[in-house]
Amino acid sequence: MGVAPALQDAIARYADQQAGREYLVSVPLTGMTGMVEMDGMRFLGRMPSFAALADEDIAAVLRHVLAQFNGIGDADWLTPQWVAQIRSRGGSPGLTYAQRAKLARGQR
Ligand code: HEM
Repeated sequence: MGVAPALQDAIARYADQQAGREYLVSVPLTGMTGMVEMDGMRFLGRMPSFAALADEDIAAVLRHVLAQFNGIGDADWLTPQWVAQIRSRGGSPGLTYAQRAKLARGQR
């Protein structure tokens, strides 16, 4: 059991799908709880919410992680406006976890 999942080469598939783009922003906004499995490793932890950060900062961190660790340098959709839109819907750690379970398996 790990403490928190690695983000390197792990989240590119989310950027390919609309629901994944919503999910990616929801994770730092609400945090997340629940068991996730990645590369055969299980994580049962609690990611804290970073909702106190500004939309600009959340967008910047996610763009950085996508570009530097996941080879996606063209995430033009990932704007502060996009973060604001997802933020305005509300949400919770449990809802974000449920969102993750519904995501389709992407191409990468
Ligand atoms: C730069 C800050 C962070 C970003 C961008 C970030 C992003 C993410 C993302 C995208 C996931 C979902 C991975 C997936 O579905 O494949 C995730 C999960 C997770 N993160 Fe973070 N994270 C950050 C900081 C942290 C910190 C500081 C902690 C712990 C103190 C943490 C703990 C976790 C845990 C435990 C999970 C799995 C959640 C679960 O088991 O339900 N994260 N994070």
